[in-house]
Amino acid sequence: MTDIFTPIEPRFDRDNSGLMEKIVALCKRRGFIYPGSELYGGLANTYDYGPTGTELLRNIKNLWWSYFVQQRDDIVGLDASLISHHRIWEASGHVAGFADAMIDCKHCKSRFRADHLIEDFLEDANNQVRIKHWAEKLIVGGETKLTNEIVTKVTEDKKVEGLTTEQLAEIIFLLDITCPNCGEVDWTPVRKFNQLFPVELGLVQGDNNVAYLRGETAQGMFVNFKNVVDSTRVRLPFGIAQLGKSFRNEITPGNSIFRTLEFEQAEIEYFFDHKKTKWEELFLEWKNSMFGFVTEKLGIKEENLRWRPHTDEERSFYSKRTEDLEYRFPFGFKELWGLAYRTNYDLAQHQTNSQKDLSIVDPQTGEKILPHVIEPAVGINRLMLMVLCDAYYEDEKRTVLKLHPKLAPYKVAVFPLLANKEELVGKARDIYKNLKESFMTAWDDRGNIGKRYMAQDEIGTPWCVTVDFQTLEDSTVTVRDRDTAEQTRLPIDELQMYFNSRLMK
Ligand code: GAP
Repeated sequence: MTDIFTPIEPRFDRDNSGLMEKIVALCKRRGFIYPGSELYGGLANTYDYGPTGTELLRNIKNLWWSYFVQQRDDIVGLDASLISHHRIWEASGHVAGFADAMIDCKHCKSRFRADHLIEDFLEDANNQVRIKHWAEKLIVGGETKLTNEIVTKVTEDKKVEGLTTEQLAEIIFLLDITCPNCGEVDWTPVRKFNQLFPVELGLVQGDNNVAYLRGETAQGMFVNFKNVVDSTRVRLPFGIAQLGKSFRNEITPGNSIFRTLEFEQAEIEYFFDHKKTKWEELFLEWKNSMFGFVTEKLGIKEENLRWRPHTDEERSFYSKRTEDLEYRFPFGFKELWGLAYRTNYDLAQHQTNSQKDLSIVDPQTGEKILPHVIEPAVGINRLMLMVLCDAYYEDEKRTVLKLHPKLAPYKVAVFPLLANKEELVGKARDIYKNLKESFMTAWDDRGNIGKRYMAQDEIGTPWCVTVDFQTLEDSTVTVRDRDTAEQTRLPIDELQMYFNSRLMK
């Protein structure tokens, strides 16, 4: 029997290679990711980041901030409160509509998101014949509330976003989907489940004392829009960026940190006057920026990325266009980063609900404008999972995380060839201390050199410096390259420049 506390192990890889299991094991073994509350049996869908994971996460955050805020002159930052007024979430529509359809297995008590249960079933290679047969039978005239259009969409696109709870329940019933955890077919009805986490404030209980942990960073930008305009020199078009925790009461199938209860979200609300700026052009610019960041800054292989426009059914009613940048995770192509043209729906909602004028005045025409917005929204933890999956490499001899050097938790590791030779250890310590002032540098003097290389390869350290007996004679060291395993002899004085020049690339 499982309950909501019990973490669910990753179930399968799409290609059955076991890749996801290997990545999860490496992450635990090498200090990237630990299961949350593990000491007390775990808490489902929560994770803690260990020493290497913390560095990797921080490096991704810093790169994102540098690329989208520091290096641009049209985007400013914001850091809003995690706990916010319930009226913000009523106005945004989250209190009424931020809900997933869930279903429970009565036999083993596992809980699933109904859409994910179906989509996982649809994508599983073993189910394709059954799905084809099902679609043909329904289209030819079975007794069903599902239209031919829905059946075709479900079977061809393998997506069910936008379908009602009744339609999801019918698909689960008609496809005879079994519980992925215990294999039984013993489902509860499909029910809606709000994802916002309420927080009770003060001592008196009641609706008016309820606040919410923010379900997205986006609302912070909308409710502070006027503050930013009034307190800075921004002019349309401009963006407000925020990077910080968001909280969602998620039911997830256990694909590590892909979908968790709390996550680091990085969002930009890019405000513009829709009469002066063509949204289609801005949208394309944002697609290029997002793709450029992922491929050039994070070093992700292009063949593992694709764009997927949302269908009319799945797109929010106020959005004119939404596209997801998807990454080929071991469990299939999944949303990485969303891009949405949200019109001025959010500002208009907050203007109406707060009864405060949120418009700005066009300095040329004197006209009042309630700006429209384009929103790129991504989870940093999901970027991290992508980076780990893309960098994972193994052959008969070794396992390596081929991380972009800028992302690597440690840039350099320093070893004395022998741990019991004082002259070697002393020299290596000096080099280590020196490099540590400029780079995250690791020290290792345990085991043999082969074992130390193996450990650094698995955490993605691009360069290992070894101090040997020759060092004592001519002040040179060996520098071993992670990807090629080749060793170069370099003077100690040149190390700093050597690593700097490589990190600049
Ligand atoms: N403001 C729009 C918004 O929040 P979203 O598609 O719900 O849109 C944006 O979320 C991104 O945040 C996703 O593409 C994903 O990268 C990340 N994300 C959403 N929920 C997540 C979760 N539970 N765990 C990890 N990342 C999540």
